[in-house]
Amino acid sequence: MERIICLAIGYVCGLLQTGYLVGKMNHVDIRKEGSGNAGSTNALRVLGWKAGAMTFAGDVIKCLAAVLIARYLYRDTQYVPLLAMYAGMGATLGHNFPFYLKFKGGKGIAVLAGLILATGLVMVPIPLSAFLIAVLLTRYVSLGSLLASSMFFLEVLFYGQLGGFGMAFRYRMELYVLVFLLMVLAWVRHKENIKRLLAGTENPFRSKK
Ligand code: G3P
Repeated sequence: MERIICLAIGYVCGLLQTGYLVGKMNHVDIRKEGSGNAGSTNALRVLGWKAGAMTFAGDVIKCLAAVLIARYLYRDTQYVPLLAMYAGMGATLGHNFPFYLKFKGGKGIAVLAGLILATGLVMVPIPLSAFLIAVLLTRYVSLGSLLASSMFFLEVLFYGQLGGFGMAFRYRMELYVLVFLLMVLAWVRHKENIKRLLAGTENPFRSKK
């Protein structure tokens, strides 16, 4: 039951579609412009730095909020890191599939950034470095996003196996499965980007303003 509650809390937090709202403030449906994605990369592409930064911040904060609520509610539970991950999964699902926008949301990468941060500062450097190196070298944000999501899964595996989450084996296994699913979801949401990357036609990172 706690898992479902955390997923639901996350889903509700994830419903706050920052990119869509920032677009509307600028009289634009972000889902009909640029790549069609309601995320910070597309907000930056279509509306400029300020909109991109606002979208990114909003999406990170909503995931942080979901995780903090779950952590607070279940602070006395031994497997609170697992419940926090369920809240992060919920936030990703709410962000990617908002029911009130016909389930057409973002790709979940800024939300994943919030989840990485909420999982622990120690988790930040590896996915962040992978992201930055990929984007600086290729100018493809999508490639950076794919690498960062994969790095997060790998480091969670290592960290968990080193006893980092302090949970019993079965909870750790469940945590790994969740993070693996998050990675798969990120890859599936980027399937059009992957096709373009392979065809050499992906949109490079460029701000309008
Ligand atoms: O976070 C989304 C990013 O990885 C790709 O965005 O707009 O280029 O599809 P976009």
